[in-house]
Amino acid sequence: MRIAILPTPEDIAVVAADRIQSLLERKPSAVLGLATGSTPLPLYDELTKRYEAGEISFADTQSFNLDEYVGLPEDHPEGYANFIHRFLVDRVDFPKGAAHGPNVWTGDNDQAAADYDKAIRDAGGIDLQILGIGADGHIGFNEPGGSFASRTHVDVLTEQTRRDNARFFDGDITKVPTHCITQGLGTIMESGEALLIATGAGKAEAVRQLVEGAISARWPATILQMHPNAIVLLDEPAAQGLELADFYREVWAKHQA
Ligand code: PGA
Repeated sequence: MRIAILPTPEDIAVVAADRIQSLLERKPSAVLGLATGSTPLPLYDELTKRYEAGEISFADTQSFNLDEYVGLPEDHPEGYANFIHRFLVDRVDFPKGAAHGPNVWTGDNDQAAADYDKAIRDAGGIDLQILGIGADGHIGFNEPGGSFASRTHVDVLTEQTRRDNARFFDGDITKVPTHCITQGLGTIMESGEALLIATGAGKAEAVRQLVEGAISARWPATILQMHPNAIVLLDEPAAQGLELADFYREVWAKHQA
């Protein structure tokens, strides 16, 4: 795992966008895994800015969302397919139909999950997966207790996650869906690069577990310790619980030198 502790979310967005830009320069047909939530929004703004400046293009790129709520109408603005279109896909030049998400509106979610997993494989796998982290340690919507080998599947959200996400639903937890389809931890672990972003003190405990805790189903993100190419981008508040923060800073600086 490589860990960067950077001054602001905007600095993180620049580092993450640099990685995506250099991937797309090397491989214009790269497959991106996209995260929703608040954390990646500065990154999506940065990518949009670079697209508008002619520095980056998604014209040959495909994307796969990490997850989708079950139970929202298809046109609900907080549905993750709509979210990702609003904050990234519709602002840049993805070709029509190139941005994928779990289809939770077929009436058979188990089949939809299996089909989504297969679609990722058929696309050649995800080259770069952007990840956030939940305060309870989830990545995607893989909540504590799930299998490290899981494929894309239907899952149940913890109350903590529903409370955290109530801010997108008028602050009303009863409006937050209870279920989702999420890429599994096994699916996420097959990505070529896993780029996890965490900002704010609310993520400090989950980040401490992710980086320095024991690998455990209690903190699903800890499986990334086994990912051969995982990068963790943190701001100072998210990094505040790390015992070896100074060492990570030194390693990151030497990598950049
Ligand atoms: P957030 O969500 O970016 O809105 O904090 C992250 C997550 O739950 O994975």
